[in-house]
Amino acid sequence: MAVTLQQTLIDIDEQQLVFHLHNDQISYILGVETGNVLAHLYFGPRVRGYHGERQYPRIDRGFSGNLPDTTDRTYSKDDLPQEYGGNNTGDYRQPAAIIRAANGARTVDFRYQDCRLEAGKPDLKGLPQTYVEDEDEAQTLIVTLRDATLGITLELAYTIYRERPVITRSARLINQSEQAVDLEKVASMQMDLPTQPLDAISLPGSYARERQLSRERLNRGVTQFESRRGASSHHMNPFVALAAPNTNEFQGNVLGALLIYSGNHQISLERDPIGQTRLTMGINEYNFDWRLAAGDSFQTPEVAMVYSTTGLNGMSQAYHDLLRDWVARSRYKREPRPILINNWEATYFDFDANKVQSILDAAAPLGIEMFVLDDGWFGHRNDDNSSLGDWFVNRNKLPEGLADISKRTHDKGMRFGLWFEPENISADSELYRAHPDWVLGVPDRGRTLSRNEYVLDFSQSDVVDNIFEQMTAVLDKVPIDYIKWDMNRNLTEVYSPHSDSAHEGETSHRFILGVYDLMERLTKRYPQILFEGCSGGGGRFDAGLMYYMPQSWPSDNNDPIERLKIQYGTSLVYPISAITAHVGTSPDELLGRSTSMKMRGAVAMSGTLGYELDAAQLSDADKQAVKAQVVFYKQHRELVQYGTFYRLESPFESNTVAWMFVSPDQKEALLFTFVILGAVQPEPHITKLAGLDPQQTYVETDTNKMYGGDELMQLGLYTTPVQTSDFTAQVHYFKAKD
Ligand code: GLA
Repeated sequence: MAVTLQQTLIDIDEQQLVFHLHNDQISYILGVETGNVLAHLYFGPRVRGYHGERQYPRIDRGFSGNLPDTTDRTYSKDDLPQEYGGNNTGDYRQPAAIIRAANGARTVDFRYQDCRLEAGKPDLKGLPQTYVEDEDEAQTLIVTLRDATLGITLELAYTIYRERPVITRSARLINQSEQAVDLEKVASMQMDLPTQPLDAISLPGSYARERQLSRERLNRGVTQFESRRGASSHHMNPFVALAAPNTNEFQGNVLGALLIYSGNHQISLERDPIGQTRLTMGINEYNFDWRLAAGDSFQTPEVAMVYSTTGLNGMSQAYHDLLRDWVARSRYKREPRPILINNWEATYFDFDANKVQSILDAAAPLGIEMFVLDDGWFGHRNDDNSSLGDWFVNRNKLPEGLADISKRTHDKGMRFGLWFEPENISADSELYRAHPDWVLGVPDRGRTLSRNEYVLDFSQSDVVDNIFEQMTAVLDKVPIDYIKWDMNRNLTEVYSPHSDSAHEGETSHRFILGVYDLMERLTKRYPQILFEGCSGGGGRFDAGLMYYMPQSWPSDNNDPIERLKIQYGTSLVYPISAITAHVGTSPDELLGRSTSMKMRGAVAMSGTLGYELDAAQLSDADKQAVKAQVVFYKQHRELVQYGTFYRLESPFESNTVAWMFVSPDQKEALLFTFVILGAVQPEPHITKLAGLDPQQTYVETDTNKMYGGDELMQLGLYTTPVQTSDFTAQVHYFKAKD
């Protein structure tokens, strides 16, 4: 307790050993219980102080053992709400850590030792994380625990932010013994919530169907959301919300927990025999076994927790602000994002400079601001079977090189972007022929192919260095404004030929650390480049990536009806500026569904707008429509990308979908409504707006109609489909009357 902080956000009651982190919105309270066990007391709306009301009810529960150093049969770690539960020492719930000692014992029992306060937020070396620009914006409590038998110290870090309903947590283990130990599991955080009914809201999905919002009541036993794919994955985002059953978009209490990490994650929710819920979150214990040498330490990734009393929209808005301002680090984090056109669905691998020129000639007059050359510009890549790893230009396709394409693009007044897939390698590549041992794989065992690709062993620094040098050779020479960073498969045979058996269990985490290292070096070296994450669409849409790249491609699925769900689900956590959305062709490339340009435009304009089509092939009518979309989007881009976003009606629940954007001063609002299926004799449907100033009069600029903010929020607007056709969109812009 060395530091005295002004306007402290953290109170420490040294008598009771209770720690209270608070700001105007939230309180988080933890305390030291009998036997120096660290107990969880409270996380929720702000309280002024704590007077002991969360002393846990002591009951002899039978078959719940007692501490070796007490004789109190009513006190057991098996039912005590805790902050970081041990293993094999009387708490039968999910452990936060499993540590294998040199003698093979897997017992873990951390007891409170000390605490300290730090101004701001300490840096977690080599990991993505939240940060603050000014130390006064946050304070950190570090609670030190110790397992005396193992000789291991655990530092639990809790950061509270002055202006946000956010607590971030992480854990660090320091081996102060004389021997190495093996970490089989080290969660970033754990917390036991009191007995209450809870819904778990998660974001499962699949390729081209990412982040489908799912909500289920927690029952007894363990519910687990995880990825074992070496990536945060299309299949389960590293996020969970725990909501009171009556919580909806606008009201009710909800706690969100987001892991800032892009590799294997594990979120477990255990409803114990007395109805308490244990939330554990961190790197997945699957394929994880970290040898911690004497004197070494291990830092977990960070979890960002939000507490909202204003429903899911309140939680999402807190995440949007946090990720946009204090996770993303790019200079673009608050800049208008350029409207781009990408050649992937226009040409796939079949392009040359003339084809590119025709797209540029057609796109520039439409007002599109950036051209992105996607896959196929390097090595001898003409399909997806070769050349990953050979990051030099394909001279057969582009004899004048990339500088020529960059110049052609810049000559049109557009920015130039380029696609890379740095982490993977094709067997048919010069890099593979030179370094067949640079690939993840187990000796004498076949390697699983996926999209005919192998994964480079990024756990090894010389592999990362090689890719860094290849990429800088391009980026130092060619003026490039944007990079799309792809990763088109998941990890298998996770084994590094250059590691040794004692350290093999470290490979999947070391792989991600290698990826972060490359991203750190490139984003630092080229601050002028806007980076966009991608992984076969949205296979790595996570907060870890956002630390390096302020936007990400959420899905290869451009069908606007499917996108309603993908973007709605993604917005639960991630800011709109990060969610890129492109107008594709009709019929849609993947699904084959036909939709109007208006529908496709309205969905894409609800994110960071772009185009995924051949502008040269557009009809005149479509060109006019695109031109109008671009003009409209430029007018409202600030509002969409940086306004406050409200989900109004969910595609997971209703045929009418609605969302809106409100400017911070509440003087402007943009409402999007979508009707999925038309109907003969449709039921009248009213959409009520949100987030407006009730006292303000707003003008709907298309019709010049005036409405009170209160009217729009209480009476709403009819969004009944006037026509019977399917897949319709309406866009309304409101401006406060001055
Ligand atoms: C992934 C991306 C696509 C495109 C292709 C290129 O699937 O999501 O947008 O870049 O790779 O191979």
